[in-house]
Amino acid sequence: MTAQGLTPSQLLLLLLVAGAAGAGGARWRGEGTTPHLQSIILGRCAEYVALLNPDQRDKNCTAIWEAFKVVLDKDPCSVFPSDYDLLINLSRHSIPRDKSLFWEDNHLLVTSYSENARRLVPLCNVLYGTIGDFLSWCRQENASGLDYQSCPTSEDCENNPVDSFWKRASMQYSKDSSGVIYVMLNGSKPSGAYPVKGFFADFEIPYFQKDKITRIEVWVMHDIGRPKVESCGEGTVKILEERLKKMGFQYSCINDHLPVKLLKCVDHSTHPDCALNSAAASTQREVPPLWAEPGASHIIPFLVALASAVQM
Ligand SMILES: *[C@@H]1O[C@H](CO)[C@@H](O)[C@H](O)[C@H]1NC(C)=O
Ligand SMILES: *[C@@H]1O[C@H](CO)[C@@H](O)[C@H](O)[C@H]1NC(C)=O
Ligand SMILES: *[C@@H]1O[C@H](CO)[C@@H](O)[C@H](O)[C@H]1NC(C)=O
Ligand SMILES: *[C@@H]1O[C@H](CO)[C@@H](O)[C@H](O)[C@H]1NC(C)=O
Repeated sequence: MTAQGLTPSQLLLLLLVAGAAGAGGARWRGEGTTPHLQSIILGRCAEYVALLNPDQRDKNCTAIWEAFKVVLDKDPCSVFPSDYDLLINLSRHSIPRDKSLFWEDNHLLVTSYSENARRLVPLCNVLYGTIGDFLSWCRQENASGLDYQSCPTSEDCENNPVDSFWKRASMQYSKDSSGVIYVMLNGSKPSGAYPVKGFFADFEIPYFQKDKITRIEVWVMHDIGRPKVESCGEGTVKILEERLKKMGFQYSCINDHLPVKLLKCVDHSTHPDCALNSAAASTQREVPPLWAEPGASHIIPFLVALASAVQM
C-alpha cells in the first residue's frame, strides 16, 4: 500500500498509527530492562567478591540476587527505596577512609578515574553499586514478566525500580563515607554544575555523618574546549558551598583538578588547553604542587610523556 489515493483524514490516521508504532509502543520514557539481567548481576557480584575485593568473599551472591529480584514482581511505579533494604543488608561493606567520590553528570569520567576502586571508591565501585551500574529493570505494568521495551523514569513516576535503588544505595554510601569527601561536578552543564534537586543533593548530603568527615573537596571539571558554564564560587556551586558551610563542613573547591583534567586530555591531546604548561599554570594557584599530593606520583611519568609529546 502507498499513501497515494488516500483522503486527508485517512492519511492523518496513517501518520498517527505510524507515530505510535515509531515510539515502539513504549509505555515509559526510560530504557527497558537490560537483557541477561540475572547473569549480569550474578556475574558482577561473583567478579567483585572473587577478584576486585576478596575481603568480601563471604558475601553470598545467590542470596543477594534473590533479595534483588523481589522488586521484579512489583508494580513498576510502586517500588520504594526500602524494598532494597535486604539487598543492602546482604551486600554492604565498609568504604576506605578518604576514598569516597560523589559526583553528578560525570559518570564515564568517574568510572575511568576511579580505576575499579584502585584509586578512589565511588558508589559504582561498592558491591551494591556495582550490581546496578548502567542497568535498567522493571516488571511489565499489568502483567508478570519483565518489560524489555521501557521502564519508568522519575518523570513517569517517582517510585520506580531504578531510581529507588539508587536512592537507597546513595543513602547507604553516604552514611558509610568518612575522612575527606571528594565531589566531582560538571562545570559545562548548561543547567549548572550542582543539581539542587538530585541524588547528591537529596539522598547523599543529608546522610553525611558529620563526626566521621574531616573535610569536603569539590572538583568542578570543564569539558576541554567547551564554554565554562560554572566554576568554583559561581551559580549552583556557590549554593552547594553555602549549604555545606552552613552544615559546618570544612569546604574547598578546585577548578579542573589536574589529575582528572589530564585524564580528560587523553582524548584531546592536541588541544591548547591540554598543553602541559597551560595545564600546570591553570591550577598552580589553586592547589599545592602536584608532587606534594599523596598518591600523585603516578602522574609524574605521565607528565614526562606528555611533555616530550608536546615538544615533538
Ligand atoms: C547462599 O544463599 C542461598 C539463598 O539464600 C542459600 O540457599 C545458600 O545456602 C547460601 N550459601 C551459603 C554458602 O551460605
Ligand atoms: C543485617 O540485618 C541484621 C538483622 O536485622 C543485622 O543484625 C545485621 O547487622 C545487618 N547487617 C548489616 C551488614 O547491616
Ligand atoms: C558534562 O556535561 C556536558 C554538557 O551536558 C556533557 O556534554 C559532557 O559529556 C559532560 N561530561 C562528562 C564527563 O560526563
Ligand atoms: C494497565 O491497567 C490500567 C488500569 O486498568 C490501564 O489504565 C493501563 O493502560 C494498563 N497499562 C497497560 C500497559 O496495559
